[in-house]
Amino acid sequence: MNILGISAGFHDAAATVINRSGDILFAGHSERYSKNKNDANFCQGLVNEVAEYGPDVVAYYERPWNKQFRQWYAGQGIEWDKLTTRQILKQQLGGQIVPDQIVSYNHHLSHAASGFQTSPYDRATVVVIDAIGEWDTTTIWAAEYDTTGRARYQRLWSQRYPHSLGLFYSAITKRVGLHPLDEEYITMGMAAYGKDSDNRVMEAVLIRDADEIEFGENLHTGLDDGFMASLSNEDIAASAQTLLERLLGNVMRRARDFGWSTNLVYQGGVALNCLANRLLGKYFENIWIMPCPGDAGSSLGAAALAYGKRLHWHDAYLGHDISGPYPVDNLVRTLLDTGIVGVANGRAEFGPRALGNRSLLADPRDPKIKDRVNEIKRRQKFRPFAPVILAELADDYFNIEPGWHTHNYMQSVARCRQPDVYPAICHVDGTSRVQTVAKDGSGIRQLLEYWYSITGCPMLLNTSLNIRGKPMVNDRADADGFEQQYGIAVYS
Ligand SMILES: [Fe+2]
Repeated sequence: MNILGISAGFHDAAATVINRSGDILFAGHSERYSKNKNDANFCQGLVNEVAEYGPDVVAYYERPWNKQFRQWYAGQGIEWDKLTTRQILKQQLGGQIVPDQIVSYNHHLSHAASGFQTSPYDRATVVVIDAIGEWDTTTIWAAEYDTTGRARYQRLWSQRYPHSLGLFYSAITKRVGLHPLDEEYITMGMAAYGKDSDNRVMEAVLIRDADEIEFGENLHTGLDDGFMASLSNEDIAASAQTLLERLLGNVMRRARDFGWSTNLVYQGGVALNCLANRLLGKYFENIWIMPCPGDAGSSLGAAALAYGKRLHWHDAYLGHDISGPYPVDNLVRTLLDTGIVGVANGRAEFGPRALGNRSLLADPRDPKIKDRVNEIKRRQKFRPFAPVILAELADDYFNIEPGWHTHNYMQSVARCRQPDVYPAICHVDGTSRVQTVAKDGSGIRQLLEYWYSITGCPMLLNTSLNIRGKPMVNDRADADGFEQQYGIAVYS
C-alpha cells in the first residue's frame, strides 16, 4: 500500500514513493538512470526501481488540462496527447505500473506540500517561486495541521504567468550565453564578477510594479541579444542578481506581513538561488527548504498531498542504494596521498546537490586543489567549490546568517572567516556555499570526524561526482566509468 508521486514531462523527471505511515521509501531523478542530464521523461531504470514498491496510488504533480490551457495561451500550442493525467502516466510508465487510483494536484500546491509536510513546523508561511507551471508563478500560503493531523493550505496571495521571477532569471541566463532552465546557478556565480550598478536601470526597463512582481513584457521567450548591450555579461548577471534579491525581498515582506507564522517554508526553482537565500532571515525566524525545491521535488509534494499528513523526514539520501559501510579509511588514506578522492556509497541524494554519498572530495588546504578539481570537472575557472564541515565547528570558520540554524543541504551562503587559508572553497565575493554535518551518524559525518582527528582540519571540499555534461553518478558502474575517465579513485 504505497503512494507513487510523479513529476515529469517538462524537465528533470522524478519519482517519490511513500508508505501509509508517512515514511519516504524512495525519491530519485530519471536522469541518474538514463544518464541524460535533466531528462524530462521517465526511463526504464527509474520505472523498474519504483515498480518494486508496488504502488497502488499514483499522484501527479500538476493538472495537465490547466497546463495545456496555459501553453495554448502562451502560443505554445496544445499537446492533445497530454490533456489528462491518465494519458501522461501511460506515456511515462509504459503500462508497467497500473495503480488503483490516480490523483493530480495544482503545480504550486505540490511545491508547497513538498516543503511543509517535510518541515519540522506545525504551522508555517509557505512561499513558492518558480518559472512556470500551470498559471501561478509566485504563491504565498498559510499552512498548518488540523486536529486530525491533516495538512491544510490556504492560498493568501499569488502572481500569475507571464509575471515570473523564474522566467526573468532564466531570460537573463540565456542573455549571458548560458542554458536557461539548467545553468541559472552559473549566472548566480558569475554575478560576483560584475558590478550591479545598473540594477535600477534594469528594473526601470523590465518591471512595471515591483511590489506586485509585475513585468512590463513577457520574458518567456527570453530577452533580445541587444538587451543592456553596453554591459558585460558579468555586469548583467550582477544587476539581475541584485534585482532578483530586491523582488524576492518584496515577496518575503508580503508573506511575513500576513502574520500567519514566523516559520518560512520556501519552495520552487528560485529557492535554489543560495546567494539570495542568505537574506531570508531578515523576514522569518526559521527557514526550511526541502533540498529538492524544484519540479523534481514536487513528485514528493504530490505524494505528500495524497497521503495528507506530515512525512517523516530524515535526510536527502533517498535514491539508488550502493550498499555497504562508508569507506572512511580508504577515503582518508587517498586524501592524504593524493588530495582528491571520489565516493559513491549509500543512497543517492535527492536534489541537485551532492551531499557526501556521490561526491568528489578534496583537501581544501592545498592551494593548488581548486585548479586540480577544475581540471577534472572542466568547468569555468571562476566557479568556487563548496565546503562540507562538522556542524559544531561551522561558526568558527564561517559567519552564518541569521535564520539559518542548519546548512545541511547547501541552501545558503556564509562568509568564510579565513578566505586566505581556504581559497578553494571561497567565492570571489568571500562567500561559501556551506554544507554542515551534524552528529547524525551519516557516512560523511564519520569521514569528517576521522579527517579532523588526523589533520586538525574540520572540512573538505565537496563537489558532485559526475563526468562532465553527465548527471551525478548513480550506481557502481557509473563510479567505475568516472574512475576510468579521470584516473581518480572512487570508493563504495
Ligand atoms: Fe515549478
